[in-house]
Amino acid sequence: MGLREKLSEKKAVQSVIGLGYVGLPLAVEFSKAGLKTVGIDIDSRKVKEVNAGRSYIGDVDGVELSEVVGSGILRATDDFSILTDADTINIAVPTPLRKTKDPDISYIVAALKEIRKYLHKGQLIILESTTYPGTTEEVMLPLLEETGLKVGKDFYLAFSPERVDPGNEHFSTKNIPKVVGGVTPACTELAAMLYSAAGMNPVPVSSTRVAETVKLLENTFRSVNIGLVNEIAMMCNRMGINVWEVIDAAATKPFGFMPFYPGPGLGGHCIPIDPFYLSWKAKQSGFDARFIELAGVINGDMPGYVVVRVSEALNERKKCLNGSKILLMGVSYKKDIDDTRESPAYDIIRLISKMGAEVYWNDPFVEKLEEESDLANYLEYDAKSLAGMDCAIVVTGHTGVDYSVLVENCPMIFDARNVLKEFDSDSIVTM
Ligand SMILES: NC(=O)c1ccc[n+]([C@@H]2O[C@H](COP(=O)([O-])OP(=O)(O)OC[C@H]3O[C@@H](n4cnc5c(N)ncnc54)[C@H](O)[C@@H]3O)[C@@H](O)[C@H]2O)c1
Repeated sequence: MGLREKLSEKKAVQSVIGLGYVGLPLAVEFSKAGLKTVGIDIDSRKVKEVNAGRSYIGDVDGVELSEVVGSGILRATDDFSILTDADTINIAVPTPLRKTKDPDISYIVAALKEIRKYLHKGQLIILESTTYPGTTEEVMLPLLEETGLKVGKDFYLAFSPERVDPGNEHFSTKNIPKVVGGVTPACTELAAMLYSAAGMNPVPVSSTRVAETVKLLENTFRSVNIGLVNEIAMMCNRMGINVWEVIDAAATKPFGFMPFYPGPGLGGHCIPIDPFYLSWKAKQSGFDARFIELAGVINGDMPGYVVVRVSEALNERKKCLNGSKILLMGVSYKKDIDDTRESPAYDIIRLISKMGAEVYWNDPFVEKLEEESDLANYLEYDAKSLAGMDCAIVVTGHTGVDYSVLVENCPMIFDARNVLKEFDSDSIVTM
């Protein structure tokens, strides 16, 4: 039976490489649609958790995971030899930046080296990791064709960006359209068939490069607009204008305006990183992506701006950062999730502890700090503990937190997220 028939009859065996924020939800969606799926991860703890039916990703429902694992439709392994039996392979491994802000696609290459060992006729490989335009055809394709197998004839290769937004209640892996670009028309068609079989909505595009650039445009759009509004926030502060009121009023325009909000800096595995994949690649064509670089500078300066503003506010109260007890309220990079990767909270911790502050943190979604845990202590969120602080900085404004406890007890609060707008208190300072 050929791949086309297997996909249309839901008889193909799926595999997903990398069971993190992107890969695990995808593997679960495949399984929930009745597609037999094997998840592969080099992290044996994740493999163990999946096989025990325990979810470690906020967006993956533990009951749903244990159901698909219990029924045998999903299982996980760290043994790549199962790819011998796999008809499709979706790759969702990390794509970080090196310290020099150059792309680090070593995880993709490492996964490919394993795939190559088991590549066989009729197999479909789809890269989902965010990466620069050209990765699929310039890096993946030659490595796979070294086996002697030909793309579009013996195996199929496509790129489909994952666009999931962790913590979003309305959109998840299942109902976010899947942009799909294959190396050949047959590659695009088969990749689209896989997503359709999983109940997703494929959006075919003409090439892998278009599909790769779609994701980078989306995240650059966010980065640039956040950079713009951060600059407007700093400008408004200098001019004595309330930026939050300006944005709320502008957002009443029924067309041509989309509100973005200032904050203490970018975080997560996407927006601070992905635009630099695009500007790096554009440089190779002699093109300088100025918006991307400028937004990166402005957004990267925001933790420092917050520290300056906190220091000024303390100064007005005849205090200084040196020796003050400062609480970071919310340390994840955005609201309602447990992910602290690239969180601006870490920059603020580093900056204020260097200036002599005694740093504390609290976050109802986060169990422990992945970085700088020696520089900041956990603080209980209660009246007595909060009253012992000199200042709190709201870095992440989670929903469901009772901020009245903070406002009533903490002598000064720098609210970088405007979550305290309902409270009327001289102790609150905003962006
Ligand atoms: N997190 C998001 O919100 C998000 C959204 C859209 C796209 N993306 C992109 O998706 C990709 C994955 O991101 P993520 O957040 O899921 O990362 P993650 O770190 O949560 O998960 C990646 C997983 O891959 C595993 N892994 C690493 N190398 C491997 C290998 N060679 N073989 C098998 N497994 C391997 C890791 O152990 C980890 O479990 C990145 O390119 C990212 O930019 C992320």
